[in-house]
Amino acid sequence: MKVTIYEVGPRDGLQNEAAILPVEVKAEFVRRLAEAGLTVIEATSFVHPKWVPQLADAAELLAGLSPAPGVRYPVLVPNERGLDRALECALGTGGVTDIAIFGSATESFARRNLNRTVESQFDMFAPVVERALANGLRVRAYVSMCFADPWEGPVAPERVVEVGRRLLGLGCAELSLGDTIGVGTPGHVEALLDAFEAGGVGLDRLAVHFHDTYGQALANTLTALRRGITVVDASTGGIGGCPYAKSATGNLATEDLVWMLDGLGIETGVDVRSLAATSLWLADLLGRPSPSRVVQALAKE
Ligand code: HMG
Ligand code: MG
Repeated sequence: MKVTIYEVGPRDGLQNEAAILPVEVKAEFVRRLAEAGLTVIEATSFVHPKWVPQLADAAELLAGLSPAPGVRYPVLVPNERGLDRALECALGTGGVTDIAIFGSATESFARRNLNRTVESQFDMFAPVVERALANGLRVRAYVSMCFADPWEGPVAPERVVEVGRRLLGLGCAELSLGDTIGVGTPGHVEALLDAFEAGGVGLDRLAVHFHDTYGQALANTLTALRRGITVVDASTGGIGGCPYAKSATGNLATEDLVWMLDGLGIETGVDVRSLAATSLWLADLLGRPSPSRVVQALAKE
């Protein structure tokens, strides 16, 4: 079995930090992640710079990156304006090759995060996906608030499946299931994957995206892996969260994931010690220690 780690540290991680890092430091972060063996690194996002000032330098960052061979650098894009901005960018000798749109399963989060209703978010995404595909890009979709929403409470799996099917139906290659506020447990993961199967969506089209607010991200990931999911989102050092989702904390730390996968003998091609060294370097710059237990343990070796 091979697991693809979809690294979100430079995007999900840095979008939620109080400190705004200089663009050269972000480029160095991305470069270090590729050097550690990560092959998919979500680099930044082309959302409204007023909504997420931390990533307002998206174009500048991409212009300064030297893509490593075999590494993909997806970027988050919410709407056509974001796609225009992404398509204008140079990335090495080419341009952007991968984008990710991000939908919500709940009305409250759709309004807060996208200024849209659940229904009208599809009108925003449809032309983005259509034009991205026409330009030869690969498109991933996220669906957020897969288990519960801080304003609405528990979210029924069928509701997530309905939104997820519509996002995939736009032409997206992959759907990442976001536990945006990190409240899910393995039983919830089982129930959601059951619902997707019952809804006719192959689990091979799904990825998982767990935030670790209640320390369940690794257990949830293992549950998904045992069901055959092979794409797992994580952020180096466990940084992250969504500024528009009350109570969201960091993602599953990439180091925690790699440590577990190494122990299971599952191939990732990622060097956990190199990642942990990067997290210590980053923690210094962000002015706070990494919440990852693996990072902390490796620092004492
Ligand atoms: P809006 O205010 O409804 O935008 O925001 P609008 O379409 O009405 O446009 C208003 C103005 O903004 C216009 O300018 C547009 O050109 C401009 P004007 O004509 O007035 O001068 N504009 C833009 N400028 C630059 N880039 C753009 C852009 N779009 C419009 N892309 C919008 C709608 C979607 C833009 C806004 O709500 C937004 O940026 N939201 C993003 C919030 C965000 O980034 N959240 C974090 C990422 S999601 C997440 O973290 C969850 C995830 O990790 C999964 C999980 O954990 O569950 C993915
Ligand atoms: Mg997230």
